[in-house]
Amino acid sequence: MKSKIQRILKKKNKSKLVCLTAYSKNFSEILDKYCDIVLVGDSLANVLYGMKNTHKVTLDMMIKHTVSVKSGLKKSLCVIDMPLNSYNNIRLAKKNAKKAMRKTKCDAVKIESNNKNFSIIKELVKSNIPVMGHIGYTPQFKKKFKVAGSSEIEEKKLIIEAKKIEEAGAFSIVLECIKKRVAQRITKILKIPTIGIGSSSCCDGQILVTDDMIGLSGFKPKFVKQYMKLNKIIEKGIQKYRREVISKRFPKNINSY
Ligand code: KIV
Repeated sequence: MKSKIQRILKKKNKSKLVCLTAYSKNFSEILDKYCDIVLVGDSLANVLYGMKNTHKVTLDMMIKHTVSVKSGLKKSLCVIDMPLNSYNNIRLAKKNAKKAMRKTKCDAVKIESNNKNFSIIKELVKSNIPVMGHIGYTPQFKKKFKVAGSSEIEEKKLIIEAKKIEEAGAFSIVLECIKKRVAQRITKILKIPTIGIGSSSCCDGQILVTDDMIGLSGFKPKFVKQYMKLNKIIEKGIQKYRREVISKRFPKNINSY
């Protein structure tokens, strides 16, 4: 197995995996110093494109952003999110995942399992394409936000789904907005690392949408901790620029030819 993936697997039960999203080189260059995994998430639909969900994201959009992200990475594992309708069946999934890997030179693809995509994951892994699974709240397939794993039936279903993803050969699995108790059980049962978002500190690693945690997206659900308010810092810079342009303090001779 590829060495970057091996490094991720070896961290299970040793140290937490640090993961974030990026959509461009400007961010991925910074993230590369601090993250094990950089995910080019289809969350770019809401965050960058102002779409109300991720359903209209295309593979070409994902490929363009991943090429940019990859150009800023030296060490972190780069994962591309396969958008809705790009992996409806084994043939399509193989064709599109191969295209994504070839065009972006990324290290792996992420697939929302929707409790049925196990054979797709298996076939991709057989074709030498590393796969990250994704269960719990999966925005491609769920109409409304809901915390997953609240009932005993749901808990059992999630555990079975996670096991099937591991059996299919995925190297890791995102647990999105899953009850702490259930995330803890899944993390204990699986040999592959679990990466939580809104699923407690029990997971083997954590991921957040970078734009949310730096205060750029304006999206502040309970599971996001805002580490800074970058929007305020940007606003200050823009205000100063405006003042200086209007008052002719910018550009100075030093900025001119
Ligand atoms: O699209 C995305 O950014 C994701 C993460 C939230 C896990 O899937």
